Amino acid sequence: MRFEATIEDCIVSGELPDGLEGGFYRNGPTWRRPNKQGLESVYTIDGMVQGLVFRDGKVEFRNRWVRTPKFVAEERAGRSLFSYADGEFDDWRAWGLGDAIRDEHNAGIPQGTANINAMPFNGEVLALSEQGCPPIALDPITLETKGIVPWSSQLSDGLFEKVCFGDGAFGPHPKWDDVKEELWSCTYRDRKPFISVHCVTLDGVVRTKHLDDGPYCAIAHDMWITENYAIVAFAPFLQDRARIAQGRGIYGWDTSLPTVIAVIRRDDIDGPVQWIEADFEPEYIMHTLSANEIDGKIVLDGPIFDSPPFMTDEVFPPGGPFVPFWQVGTTCIGRCVLDLEKGRATSEHLGDTPVELPKIDERFWGKPYEWGFYTAGERVKDGMRMNTVMRRNVHTGKEDSYTIKHDRPVGVYESVFVPRTPDAPEGDGYLITPVSYFNERHTDFMVFNADDLPSGPVAKVVLPFAVGWTPHGHWMDFR
Ligand SMILES: [Fe+2]
Repeated sequence: MRFEATIEDCIVSGELPDGLEGGFYRNGPTWRRPNKQGLESVYTIDGMVQGLVFRDGKVEFRNRWVRTPKFVAEERAGRSLFSYADGEFDDWRAWGLGDAIRDEHNAGIPQGTANINAMPFNGEVLALSEQGCPPIALDPITLETKGIVPWSSQLSDGLFEKVCFGDGAFGPHPKWDDVKEELWSCTYRDRKPFISVHCVTLDGVVRTKHLDDGPYCAIAHDMWITENYAIVAFAPFLQDRARIAQGRGIYGWDTSLPTVIAVIRRDDIDGPVQWIEADFEPEYIMHTLSANEIDGKIVLDGPIFDSPPFMTDEVFPPGGPFVPFWQVGTTCIGRCVLDLEKGRATSEHLGDTPVELPKIDERFWGKPYEWGFYTAGERVKDGMRMNTVMRRNVHTGKEDSYTIKHDRPVGVYESVFVPRTPDAPEGDGYLITPVSYFNERHTDFMVFNADDLPSGPVAKVVLPFAVGWTPHGHWMDFR
């Protein structure tokens, strides 16, 4: 999808729910131009945000590249300006997560592409990077880039050292608590402190907890918050630029290392961290669902991978092609329970169905919650085929679902939950799921009643092209 489109009045089949007013924003890597080494890694391709806006009884679609410092500099030059320390491997090890090779054309320009997530904050849409670029604010209607957030200079380094004023990293999966009006996120690096946790408030103040006692360079792609705690796991999925210098891919999986969990009191970010070493074998939660505090314990929910869904040279020999994550690993619904009093962490698998891209009614981040939503599927060889949307009650385990039946390949992307009204009970509302039909070159945004997935979508917003792959997105309510 290498074009910027505007559709002011999308085709809708079925009946859209009354009163739906808001935007569903998604972000993903979309080629603007090949980089100097011709890499196809997610991390080197520029971010493009897609916005599906419901207002005044119509649905509008726009997609726009995020004007990161890298994008702007390359537009001005009319060519790619970046190459990477791991870009010469010529196989799956070329993630584009090595240091940018610096010259006079890219000096002082962060190498991040802001292509992993898009979520609302303080009336704007933030385009979020995995590493190497601060959040970029976009207009929620036009998707025009407004600029780097004004609080970026308070952020810590990500994987890369800062290259200019205002550079910094924030992580791709922040959690917004609308009662305390706090935005929590974490970022990670391959040097001490390996992980830092940030809390941003609407006045643009950033408070930071550096996890100085963190044991190793774990990839903290996501985190949990409850009413009282922020929780970050050190699982032995590693990211270390020293590996590149050794001729290895940047990612590692070291099962000799223990899983260690950091528990931070939200009302005392400067206070001591409670460290809990887990009682279970190494596993990996890439994306969190959410967490409850129950009877003095913290219950952390999320899909559990037995091993990371990324290629590492502990498993794959050099020289092979890149294999995407859904063919490398598979998951099941999982749960980790922290007993703060005893300092114990346990883990359990709650089902066999592969699930990923977990979502909740995000008004309930930082609060007790009951309903989880997943993209689900079936096991295929070493990976999984995702073709289903699922709802699950986290207390009772009751599940219901809807499977997209199509005899040619479809991409079921991450859903978003939309409350029926701004003050509806938790889980009362709609699920919107993008489904891309690759061969037919079109896309349906399916709208489900969240409490009746098996009946199928009540409406579809139909786009006459295949939207690009977008890992993550969120809903901004205009009501
Ligand atoms: Fe993610």
